[in-house]
Amino acid sequence: MKKIYLIGIGQGNPDYLTVQSIKTMKKTDVFFLLEKEWDKKDLLKIRKEILERYLSEGTYRVVSAKIPKRRKGSKYEEGVEIWRQETAAVIAGLIKDEIKEDESGALLVWGDPSLYDGHLEMLQHILKQGIINFDYEVIPGITSVQVLAARHKIPLNRIGETIVITTARHLKEYRTEEIKNMAVMLDSRGSFQQLQDEDIDIYWGGYLGSEDEILLSGRLKDIIMDLKNIIKEAKNKKGWLMDTYILRRKENND
Ligand SMILES: C[S@@+](CC[C@H](N)C(=O)[O-])C[C@H]1O[C@@H](n2cnc3c(N)ncnc32)[C@H](O)[C@@H]1O
Repeated sequence: MKKIYLIGIGQGNPDYLTVQSIKTMKKTDVFFLLEKEWDKKDLLKIRKEILERYLSEGTYRVVSAKIPKRRKGSKYEEGVEIWRQETAAVIAGLIKDEIKEDESGALLVWGDPSLYDGHLEMLQHILKQGIINFDYEVIPGITSVQVLAARHKIPLNRIGETIVITTARHLKEYRTEEIKNMAVMLDSRGSFQQLQDEDIDIYWGGYLGSEDEILLSGRLKDIIMDLKNIIKEAKNKKGWLMDTYILRRKENND
């Protein structure tokens, strides 16, 4: 039977690949590189570099495919759902046409496939359709949240506390008192600004794990101007930014 690996590749730094990811790459026949025309070209380049660094030439095949652009629907969730179905159709075509029976294919997934990533659900959606059959396996990778905590040398939670991982879209749903430890992802608009008057610390990281990595931390209200400037400059310079941050409310005795 055909086999698909979803391989977590960490944050793009080849040093962040796990031994299991490398071993799985070595036994993979075909790698599918999905090109998002509108997106960050660097991320495709990094995937090619990872293959070249760990695999011998001629031992694997690479098949690239363009995936459709996400249309701006009335509701965010609906837009993402439609986009995922269209992307799943592209992946289904690759599995059907580009892998022989008893061969394996892999998708190199940014960070870890379990965290704000749709590949796993897309594979399950394809199987549910019942048109093609395959086995699949998930190889975990290092997430941006883990790298962020490591870089700032902080635990994700203090003793016995909760850690919430969410996206910028949901930040406004939380009352400030509820923000004990909160990792925020997918923030293109600097949503931390809505908390600028609160007694909150921020541990921010952009381009984590890469040569361009930027770190900043401190009391949000003290560093907010610096942070906004850094974000603006980074976006101007590179054309894109991936950032993650942890918000932490101060304890009375901090
Ligand atoms: C679609 S999610 C993918 C998350 C990924 N699966 C993971 O495990 O980290 C993309 C979001 O992850 C975060 N992210 C991914 N790579 C990052 C990096 N190198 N530096 C900072 N944040 C990153 C950002 O919040 C970005 O908006």
